[in-house]
Amino acid sequence: MQTAEAPARDESLVWRTARIPVKHWGQGVENLDRTHPDVRQAVEDFVATWTRRYVPMDATMAELPEDRSLVGKGLLLFGNPGTGKTTTAAAVLTTIRRQYGGVIFFVPFADYVQALIDHRNWRDLYQATGDEMARERFQMLQKMLDKVLSCPLIVLDDLGKEHHTSSGFAADVFDALIRGRHRNARPTILTSNNKPGDWDKTYNASMQSFLTEACEVIPMTGRDHRRAA
Ligand SMILES: Nc1ncnc2c1ncn2[C@@H]1O[C@H](COP(=O)(O)OP(=O)(O)O)[C@@H](O)[C@H]1O
Ligand SMILES: [Mg+2]
Repeated sequence: MQTAEAPARDESLVWRTARIPVKHWGQGVENLDRTHPDVRQAVEDFVATWTRRYVPMDATMAELPEDRSLVGKGLLLFGNPGTGKTTTAAAVLTTIRRQYGGVIFFVPFADYVQALIDHRNWRDLYQATGDEMARERFQMLQKMLDKVLSCPLIVLDDLGKEHHTSSGFAADVFDALIRGRHRNARPTILTSNNKPGDWDKTYNASMQSFLTEACEVIPMTGRDHRRAA
């Protein structure tokens, strides 16, 4: 017998499109067991204050939050490998999507840097030769890069693991992305093994000070979950 109701749309499409690592699909902040209470509190606060952090492009003056201290403000999760940074970041992304909707995106920072390089190369090739495949590739990458810059919430995973060229390309890219998103009231969740005090070595001193303005810094302490029995 046929039912009148359409089958519920499978959620996997949402998490696949957002490029969330498969092991974290559908796991929200309520699934963060064995997380330090301070971290749990910080991520729950982040979710609860979302409408004061993210301001839609078409917001009117009346829709702006009265208290603007959190506008564009994200999270910086830092700690040793295996302390649950990626798990926690993916969980926040998942919960924000479920509670508030909107486009979300998960991207390893190294992949983002590589996508920028590929985008430039395919575009140059297209401009030089008019090759159709080059055009398709650069337009596809263009869409992805636009999404990272403008969607309401992204996770930039594993900052500092990208390959650093002498030109400081990664540093410039990071600077432009974080500042651009913050300026447009799009919070960013960053994860890194680097201590915030060491950011001036990886990137630069002005970035270090800006980061603490653009993000709440959350130390991930405790033992390596990968090794915990
Ligand atoms: N709160 C948690 N409770 C139990 N296991 C966890 C928790 N957070 C992470 N894990 C597990 O520990 C391992 C490492 O977590 P991950 O988030 O990848 O760490 P990191 O990104 O800091 O290296 C994974 O297998 C993950 O499933
Ligand atoms: Mg990780």
